[in-house]
Amino acid sequence: MATILAIETSCDETAVAIVKNRQVLSSIVASQIDLHQKYGGVVPELASRKHLESINFCLSEAIAESGLSWQDLDGIASTCAPGLVGALLVGVTAAKTLAMVHNKPFLGVHHLEGHIYASYLSQPELKPPFLCLLVSGGHTSMIYVKDCGHYEMLGTTRDDAAGEAFDKVARLLNLGYPGGPIIDKLAKSGNPQAFPLPEGRISLPEGGYHPYDTSFSGLKTAVLRLTQKLAEKGEIPVADLAASFQNTVARVLTKRTIRCALDYGLKTITVGGGVAANSELREHLLAAAQKHDIQVYFPPLKLCTDNAAMIACAAVEHYTRGDISSIDLKVRSRMPIMNVRELYQ
Ligand code: KG4
Ligand code: ZN
Repeated sequence: MATILAIETSCDETAVAIVKNRQVLSSIVASQIDLHQKYGGVVPELASRKHLESINFCLSEAIAESGLSWQDLDGIASTCAPGLVGALLVGVTAAKTLAMVHNKPFLGVHHLEGHIYASYLSQPELKPPFLCLLVSGGHTSMIYVKDCGHYEMLGTTRDDAAGEAFDKVARLLNLGYPGGPIIDKLAKSGNPQAFPLPEGRISLPEGGYHPYDTSFSGLKTAVLRLTQKLAEKGEIPVADLAASFQNTVARVLTKRTIRCALDYGLKTITVGGGVAANSELREHLLAAAQKHDIQVYFPPLKLCTDNAAMIACAAVEHYTRGDISSIDLKVRSRMPIMNVRELYQ
């Protein structure tokens, strides 16, 4: 196994962590949420500049917290795709520079592989094959993890990702950004059955519906229409709307994920990405899986949203298989996870 320092700067968190095998020795996350909050979303140019300001501090904190020195590391990794190009460049340039200065191998990591392996940080025995439900601000994917680096995409989003739907619904209800944690908290005081909302099924040309793909834009529009109608009548029951919306998302994701695991004969499900922190999704999925004798693993709460420990964990998996990246590796704004082997020599 290995000890890896990893950097994550693909979006609005500057993060550095050191992981030894599956043990987190340090994990520093400098969030930029305050900076982007007033714009209701991430402003790419501001994100890159802030990463540049924060990266050196995060690096020294991560080293200090771990109690290790640079000589103790086996490799230095950074998220290199997908993400905001300017933001990714900050992390990748820092990682490559440190790798050259300290004469260590450099590993570029696919951001989604980080989310997949976040569950490893609380489950030392977990290994493929398993189904990963990846639900973040940009993705709603069902990934068949056959082995490290070998993936099959079984289900995806046709429009808004799960986290994006939380953020957009929170914005239209004037709740703030990011929407997921705010709606999660507010929904606890609302009635999840107050408003029936559409599940968003994808029709197939041959008839019937796609069993694993999701679509949340219809749900978001339904909440918008309902809000406008309720506003005409008087006060908007925000907690009931939040609870009904969240309940629909949790039900849809649970139904599709369990169906997918059963169809592919997979007895283990892992969940990753910011929406994996959602309390109702956790409850629904755990209850449904138990009925079918399926194990479900979630990452520790603070490792659901973007962090560098998950990137280091993915890098440990690759490093132990002999994967190392070229020092000329380029960052990429988009990259399908199935092509992840292109990142290694
Ligand atoms: O994985 P992540 O940190 O960044 C991406 O790679 O996209 O996910 C961020 C997303 C945001 O859309 C945020 O609203 C959502 O995760 N999120 C949640 C919760 N915590 C964060 N969604 C639902 N419930 C939560 N508790
Ligand atoms: Zn992410």
